[in-house]
Amino acid sequence: MKKTSFASVLTFGCQMNIHDSEYLKSELESLGYTLINDYIEAEAIVINTCSVREKPETKLLNILSQIKGLKKKKPKIKVIVCGCSAQNLGSKIIELYPFVDLVFGPDEIFNFKNLLLNLFTSKKESTHTSFYKDFSYMNTKVSSNILNHAYLTVMKGCNSYCSYCIVPYLRGKEISRKRLEIVEDVKQLVDKGISSITLIAQNISRYGLDINDNLINLIIDISKINRIKNLAFLTSHPKDFDLNIIKLYEDIDILSPLLHLPAQHGSNKILASMNRNYTKEYYYNIVDNLKNSKIWKNLNFTTDIIIGFPEEDDNDFKELLSLLDYAEFDNSFTFIYSPRKGTKAYELYSKKTDLSLKKVYSQRLKMYQDRQKEIALQKNKNLLDKTMELYIEQDSYKDSLKYTARTKSYKVVNFIKPKDIDLKPGSYVLAKIDKAYPTHLLATFISKV
Ligand code: SAH
Ligand code: SF4
Ligand code: F3S
Repeated sequence: MKKTSFASVLTFGCQMNIHDSEYLKSELESLGYTLINDYIEAEAIVINTCSVREKPETKLLNILSQIKGLKKKKPKIKVIVCGCSAQNLGSKIIELYPFVDLVFGPDEIFNFKNLLLNLFTSKKESTHTSFYKDFSYMNTKVSSNILNHAYLTVMKGCNSYCSYCIVPYLRGKEISRKRLEIVEDVKQLVDKGISSITLIAQNISRYGLDINDNLINLIIDISKINRIKNLAFLTSHPKDFDLNIIKLYEDIDILSPLLHLPAQHGSNKILASMNRNYTKEYYYNIVDNLKNSKIWKNLNFTTDIIIGFPEEDDNDFKELLSLLDYAEFDNSFTFIYSPRKGTKAYELYSKKTDLSLKKVYSQRLKMYQDRQKEIALQKNKNLLDKTMELYIEQDSYKDSLKYTARTKSYKVVNFIKPKDIDLKPGSYVLAKIDKAYPTHLLATFISKV
């Protein structure tokens, strides 16, 4: 392979995929590829896919249709589809798009380098979708453009089987990594200059339960490592959330005041048919505990919500709005229910799904989002005039005269780049918050940290 070959990795989906793509990118770099964003120029195109809703899967099929023309012009380019849709659709992808060279699922990722190299010696396209027990191979491998923040997988798979969700079928059973191994990985990342780490798992509240351990022990051990500045964890599940974590937020300085606790809904009828295994009262009790704690005023409290689950009526929706008002989320990731073949809800409801309700669901989505924006704006206004430590992520997309930075709780803050001061993504600064919006804040730079 020539040293100047270009590769492009396109990533859809959640933090798992973002993290997996870092591994793929680091492997491509180790093979001598230069990473570029625009796949049109690339000799190797890797698409890391998501299957959680229909939309990302349709996006994949659209991109493949575009790449078809590209491959006709440049037959030597390698087209690789991996991630959750690769697991879901398997060999169908090559049947439908014969120009695809390689398909592999999330658990086959450690094989990526070999599978890619094989493409240069064998002409045959192939599909790989086995599950494996081991997965410690990829945690500290990140690409050269990672500056100061990294994701770290602590557990793979999901045993929760929410009735709408395809993830457990694509990512397999839960397997926790050993606490000591994770601590070693954190040390290695810190040695690479990464001081902000987010531990990830589909349901991190269950970390360690399969190996007689738990998330609290893990957080405490990591907090003892020197030079780590910020530690976050995603995603918590209300049914398994340990209220003692709230005390950790109070006691452990490096723990980011961020809690992503997907509620999914606020109606007991819907929560039951989603198989979430908690009631709205149970969720409200967690909120009460958070509100009664010292961290509440600094907490970035976020959630995921599904609107339009089968049989959601006006009353259920009212209960969902009540939940939003009660919990005062800083942000909600909202989705309209998307039936996924192979899930329990699909089998139960697919024949009954009334498409005429589509408009009603969109209206409910908008109502929910409008109310969420009001609450978020109100909460962001509480930060006005505060001086905060920020971590610079990148140049602002919208305005190259500004930086986009994050608070310790991962709220987005933009500020004008100061003249004559050498700042770059990865630096920490102090800034004063001057303006609040529902989705972000504006600040004025004070000093470098
Ligand atoms: N493990 C994480 C992420 C799962 S996927 C968790 O449990 O929170 C992220 C979000 O996608 C879910 O929280 C849910 O809100 C949404 N989601 C999952 N399946 C969906 C479906 N079939 N239709 C619409 N939204 C869905
Ligand atoms: Fe899906 Fe539920 Fe598992 Fe999250 S906890 S990945 S929503 S099954
Ligand atoms: Fe999507 Fe797979 Fe994540 S389906 S949400 S990329 S686990």
